Amino acid sequence: MTTLEILTIPDTRLKHKSTVVESFDQNLKNTINDMFETLYASGNGIGLAAPQVGIKKRIVVIDIKEEDASNPIAFVNPRIIEFSEEKFINEEGCLSVPEYFAEVERSKQVKVEWYNDDGKKKSATFNGLMSICIQHEIDHLDGILFIDHLSKLKRKLAIEKLRKIKKKNKADE
Ligand code: NI
Repeated sequence: MTTLEILTIPDTRLKHKSTVVESFDQNLKNTINDMFETLYASGNGIGLAAPQVGIKKRIVVIDIKEEDASNPIAFVNPRIIEFSEEKFINEEGCLSVPEYFAEVERSKQVKVEWYNDDGKKKSATFNGLMSICIQHEIDHLDGILFIDHLSKLKRKLAIEKLRKIKKKNKADE
């Protein structure tokens, strides 16, 4: 397994629309394993989408630990087929927008269809953190970042803050 480099804003590859996975082969399984490895290596991430590691494919991995037990799920070609009308607002962050958090409004509940790494079709209804996470990750597949849901001003502040952090990290090297 390999830990992959996570792209950060303003890398334009984060803005691309990813393509549908058509081959459920060993290559796909390797990519999923590498994505989980990268997610765990990040330390604080709960989800990762393939375009965040420069792979333009509709693949998402999520592990929301329940009572410290690992619960990894790989979503291939995930699609939200129902959004609840009821919304909620929660603080979100993203491995591609380091050290920035902001409140985003999302549907409280979503019904998702996807394929597992063997090409088997799955579906489930998600609430709470899982609902937020899958909406956030599927956005990545369409080139949308959580900061794109914010006002122009807040987005500008986020980008500005990251630029300063990058500058500081460079100076510390
Ligand atoms: Ni993200």
